[in-house]
Amino acid sequence: MKSRFVLALGFSLAVLAPQMTSAETVWLDDLNLAAATQGWGQPHKNQSVDGHTLTIGGQKFERGFGTHAESHLKINVGGGAQKFSAKVGVDDEVNSNAASSVEFIVVGDGKTLWRSGVMKAGAAAKDCAVDLTGVKSLLLQVSDSGDGIDFDHADWADAKFETAGTKPTTVSGEPQLIFVAPYILTPAAPATPRINGANLFGVRPGSPFLFTIPATGERPMEFSATGLPDGLQLDTKTGCITGVLKTKGEFIVTLRAKNSLGTAEKKFRIVCGDQMALTPPMGWNSWNCFAGAVSEERVKSAADALVKSGLINHGWTYINVDDFWQNHRNSKDPTLRGDFRDTNGVIVPNSRFPDMKGLADYIHKLGLKAGLYSSPGPWTCGGCAGSWQHEAQDAQTYAEWGFDYLKYDWCSYGSVVSSEVTNVAKVKSNGSPWKKDEEAIYPYKIMGEFLRKQNRDIVFSLCQYGMADVWNWGGAVNGNCWRTTGDITDTWRSMSGIGFRQDKAAPLAKPGNWNDPDMLIVGEVGWGKTHPTRLSVDEQYTHISLWCLLSAPLLIGCDMTKLDDFTLNLLSNDEVLAIDQDALGKETTCVSTNGDVRIYAKDLEDGGRALGFFNLGVTPLPLDLKQLASLGFGGQQHVHDLWRQSDVPVNDTPAIMIPAHGVVLYKVTAAK
Ligand code: GAL
Repeated sequence: MKSRFVLALGFSLAVLAPQMTSAETVWLDDLNLAAATQGWGQPHKNQSVDGHTLTIGGQKFERGFGTHAESHLKINVGGGAQKFSAKVGVDDEVNSNAASSVEFIVVGDGKTLWRSGVMKAGAAAKDCAVDLTGVKSLLLQVSDSGDGIDFDHADWADAKFETAGTKPTTVSGEPQLIFVAPYILTPAAPATPRINGANLFGVRPGSPFLFTIPATGERPMEFSATGLPDGLQLDTKTGCITGVLKTKGEFIVTLRAKNSLGTAEKKFRIVCGDQMALTPPMGWNSWNCFAGAVSEERVKSAADALVKSGLINHGWTYINVDDFWQNHRNSKDPTLRGDFRDTNGVIVPNSRFPDMKGLADYIHKLGLKAGLYSSPGPWTCGGCAGSWQHEAQDAQTYAEWGFDYLKYDWCSYGSVVSSEVTNVAKVKSNGSPWKKDEEAIYPYKIMGEFLRKQNRDIVFSLCQYGMADVWNWGGAVNGNCWRTTGDITDTWRSMSGIGFRQDKAAPLAKPGNWNDPDMLIVGEVGWGKTHPTRLSVDEQYTHISLWCLLSAPLLIGCDMTKLDDFTLNLLSNDEVLAIDQDALGKETTCVSTNGDVRIYAKDLEDGGRALGFFNLGVTPLPLDLKQLASLGFGGQQHVHDLWRQSDVPVNDTPAIMIPAHGVVLYKVTAAK
C-alpha cells in the first residue's frame, strides 16, 4: 500500500527561520495564525472567533489567538525554545449558560505536554505553562471535549514563547501524521471451513430468494442444509440458496460447509414476513471511487473482484450502481447524452449501460445482488434524469430489470416540492430546504409504496442527509436505511465528525431499519480520480470499528480492482463484521468520555457486549481495563480482542495503548 501516515506530529523543519541569540519573547499572535484549522469560523489575531476583545471569566486580554474547537495550530519551534505560556478558556462572548465545553491541549513532538481539563463558558482563565526544552514541533489543540463543537469559542490569550533558538513558525493544515506502514491485525481465515455472516435473513413471500452462504476455507467445498423450507433450493457447489417462499413463517435452518479438512455448521434463521434487510446491508457502491465515470464494465469488474478477492465469503453482497447510469441534462460527454425516457415514459439508461437486465443477471449469477440509484426530483444530484412523476413506472422498471436495492436521493426535489404536496401550512423558520416535514417525507412515502408493490424485495435506502430527523419516520415509509448526514470524504475530520455524532438517531435502529452514516472510505477512493484513502491506518481501524458498532450499512466505496492486502484484511475480519451483523440490531452510543478517549458499547444477541475504546487525540493514550466495572460489567469478564481475534488476559494485562485516532475493539462476555 502506498502512502499511509500515522501520528506523532512531525512536520518539515525545512523552513529556515531567523536565528535568535539571547532568550526572547515571541508572541503567538505575531505568527501566521491563518495556518490553524478549526471547526467553525476563522482564526483571529488578538480577538475572539467572533471578533471581540479576548475575554475569559471577565478578564480582558489584549493579545492572543481566538479560535473554535476542533482547533489545531502546528508550530515549528525548532528545539531552541524554553517555554510556552498562555491563559486559556472559553471566551465570554458565549453565554455562560451555553453548552460550551472545550479542552486545551499542548502536544510536543507527538507527546501530550499539558491539558487544561474540560473548561466551560464563564470559567476563569487557566494558566498554561509548558517547558519546551528540546521540543521541535508543537501542536496547540482545542478539542470539543467529547460533546460536539457547539459554542466552543476558545481563547489562547497572552500566548507567547520564550526562545533563544529559531523563531517559531506556524505550519498550515491538519496535524501531519507521520507515515506508519499499514499493519495487519487480523489472522488469515483458516483453511478449515467456517460459515460467516449474519445468522438472520428476511424475505417477503413471493419475492425471489437469493442468499449465498458466506464461507471461508479451502475449496472445493460442498454445501448442505437441513430444515430448508419448501420452495428453496441450495446449489451444493456454490452455496447459493434460491427459490421463492409462498407463505410467511420462521424457519431455522442448519447450514453446513464441508471440505477435505472438516465441516462447519451454523444455525440460520429465515424470516419470511414483511421485512427485509434484517441485518445492515453489506456490499459495494460505485460513487466514492467512480462518481460520474461509472460504467457497466466497471460495475461488472467490481462484482468480479468482490468474488475473486474472497469478500463474498465474509457476507459482502450488494453491487450498487450510484448516479450516472441515466442520461444527463447537459453534459458534454456524449456517453451521457440521449433520451431521458422512451415514448412510454420508461427511463432510458445511458450508452455506458447498454443492458440493465443483463447487468443485474450477471451480478445475480455471481451469487450477489444488484442496486441502483435515483432521485425524487426531475434531476439527480449529478444532473441525470430523476424519477419525478415517474415513480411507479420506475419502481416497476427496476423490479423488471432485477434490481434488489434502491438508493433514493433528494436533489432537485426542493424545486418541485410545493407543487407535489398539498396543504402546505407553516414554513420552517430555520432555513431548512423543505417547507414542512410532510414535504420531506412525501417523496419517500410514495416511492416506498411503489417498491413494496413489486414482486421483488428491493431494499429502500433514503439518501436525504437526515432532514426532518428521518430516523423518526424512515421506517414508516418503508425505508430500510437512511442517511443521517451529508456526504463523507476520506479525511479524519469528515469520518470522525460523522461517526462520533450519531447518538441522537441510535435508539431508532432495529432489524430492517438502519441509520446510515454514509459509505466506507477505505482503499482507493476519489470520486472519479482515485488515490489511496487519506485516512491513516489507525483511522481506518476506527472507521470500520465504529461503523460496525453503529450497525451501519457497510458499502465499500473503493475501486475493487485495486484492493491492497491491508484493505482486504480490514474488510474481512468476521468477528468485527459480526458486530455489525448482530441479529439484535442495536446501535451503539457513547457510554463514557474521558478526555480524548470515548467508549462505545453495543449489546449483542448472545448477551455479550462489543466495546470500542476510541482515541480522538493525536497522541497514544492508555486503556484501563479496570474501567470495565465502572461501565457496568460486574464480576469476572472474558475479554476478546476482535481485530486480533485473540483473548485478552484481564487480570494480568500489560499496559494497552490506544493509538492516536485509533481504536481497541473488544467483545466482553461474563466469564463462566
Ligand atoms: C449525493 C449523495 C452521494 C451520491 C451523489 C450522486 O447526494 O449523497 O452519496 O449518491 O449524490 O450524485
